[in-house]
Amino acid sequence: MNTNRSEALPAFVRGLEALVDRGADEATIRREGGALLADLIARDDWLPPALAEPDPDSYRIHQLHVDPAGRFSVSAMVWGPGQGTPIHDHTVWGMVGVLRGRERCEEFAPLLERGGPLVSGQVHELAPGDIDFVSPTIGDIHRVSNALADGTSVSIHVYGGDIGSIERSRYDDAGRATPFVSPYAACLLPGRAS
Ligand SMILES: [Fe+2]
Repeated sequence: MNTNRSEALPAFVRGLEALVDRGADEATIRREGGALLADLIARDDWLPPALAEPDPDSYRIHQLHVDPAGRFSVSAMVWGPGQGTPIHDHTVWGMVGVLRGRERCEEFAPLLERGGPLVSGQVHELAPGDIDFVSPTIGDIHRVSNALADGTSVSIHVYGGDIGSIERSRYDDAGRATPFVSPYAACLLPGRAS
């Protein structure tokens, strides 16, 4: 682990760049990229406080890094008490590591290949240091919420594309899909011009 906290995120990004540069497949990214993410979230001293502030109205996604070639992105999701997502997919591989607080994940499997009712799968909670994986190849539909009724939770998300611009789907309880995009919140890492 890097001893310099300001180097924690850049070191993680460089490690992930090296993985995608060499054309690592999803399983390798989960194994080796997951180890890098575990290192990043093993410490909680590097995320600027402004990027860990909850919004009273909804959870927020802060952009931390977008690969210039669009091969992956890193973001921080901040959840206020009681906040959560609709049922949704990602369409790309993803790794979610909890930095702070506690998150509840409900997994869903589509009953039909396209659309149709969703079948609820496992429910589990993630504590700081825990990592969850999603992908169309291993299960891509879930609903996530803050498991803390009285505190903020923060997780670090890594996706195989720019999650701030990927069109994906959210689902109602009947499994009907609606396209959506999760834009980044306006607050950026210090030093970023735009
Ligand atoms: Fe998700």
